[in-house]
Amino acid sequence: MTKLFVTGGAGFIGSAFIRVALEELPDCEIVNFDALTYAGNPDNLAGLDERRHRFVHGDIADRAAVMDALEEGTDAVVNFAAESHVDRSIASADEFLRTNVLGTQVLLDAARARRVARFVQISTDEVMGSLPEDDASFFTESSPYAPNSPYAASKAAAEHLVRAAHHTFGLDAVITRCGNNYGPRQFPEKLIPLVIANAIDDQPIPVYGDGRNVRDWIYVDDHCRAILQALRRGRAGEIYNIGARNERRNLEVVEAILDALGKPRTLIKFVKDRPGHDRRYAIDPTKVETELDWRPQETWESGLRRTIQWYAENQAWVARARSGAYRQYYAQQYGMEIDVRR
Ligand SMILES: NC(=O)c1ccc[n+]([C@@H]2O[C@H](COP(=O)([O-])OP(=O)(O)OC[C@H]3O[C@@H](n4cnc5c(N)ncnc54)[C@H](O)[C@@H]3O)[C@@H](O)[C@H]2O)c1
Repeated sequence: MTKLFVTGGAGFIGSAFIRVALEELPDCEIVNFDALTYAGNPDNLAGLDERRHRFVHGDIADRAAVMDALEEGTDAVVNFAAESHVDRSIASADEFLRTNVLGTQVLLDAARARRVARFVQISTDEVMGSLPEDDASFFTESSPYAPNSPYAASKAAAEHLVRAAHHTFGLDAVITRCGNNYGPRQFPEKLIPLVIANAIDDQPIPVYGDGRNVRDWIYVDDHCRAILQALRRGRAGEIYNIGARNERRNLEVVEAILDALGKPRTLIKFVKDRPGHDRRYAIDPTKVETELDWRPQETWESGLRRTIQWYAENQAWVARARSGAYRQYYAQQYGMEIDVRR
């Protein structure tokens, strides 16, 4: 794999993947195709080797732009580009359908037209819905589709299109599904960076409902190393669920961050629950562990430590991400103003 076309590479996971791929595949060159929506951030690309990484500003739903940027001889398309926030999809699903569904089909068509050797679709465990709270059930690759939010439904639709391109046209395609990622450079609308940023600023921390929802957390670089394995060794037409066997209740996550920063739990403020809030996600990663010989390298403790340290040391990044439209979004979403001090 030497020529990669990565979409959404200015976002949280895409930019981490580019760093991991440049390091682990010494011969690879990457075209990073990203529309720079509110979640895309050129700062996330700081320090990348310009001889091996080229940024192209473009929209995956724009067929002409994709065809222009995607060259013959590309070994793989890795599709991270997406609208990714459940709450925003509840407010309006339009962009989710355009990017996540239509955009994926445009990329699949372009990959076939340019005879790209492999297509990797980055998907989510949310396509499988929610698990019961207190039993030992897990999502596996054969769990039924049951998306509960417009975001999850759009990602499920994208998976179906990838599957159809493989089945009908023989496109060599692999789907990876992961749980909740955490790590550096995640847009602070998501739980962990939001909690860290608010805690550092001694701001109230909004927690949905009773805070007992369970998520299966994975450090972003571990996710990226699993994607790399799927790209290199995954079998065409297969789905790989990626997880670090790390279920945590939201409240437990918030408390761990407050404790690590030496902040009081009185900052926690319970707010009205998200409509249709999935109760529990938990992934059985046996297939990716055995077939692709992958294991996470970070523990929850080491990953969280690194993550908190990154946000503490990159306050300017956080302040830029939380300026402008984000303030309005935050006030609407949580019914409270954000008071950004730095
Ligand atoms: N964050 C998670 O915990 C998680 C878990 C499982 C799967 N995923 C999936 O991983 C992928 C990346 O997630 P993330 O958290 O890095 O998201 P993100 O919101 O941080 O980044 C998304 C990136 O896609 C770009 N983008 C959006 N619309 C685009 C378009 N039309 N054309 C080109 N670029 C566009 C944005 O500019 C941004 O750089 C998504 O497909 C998401 O569904 C995320």
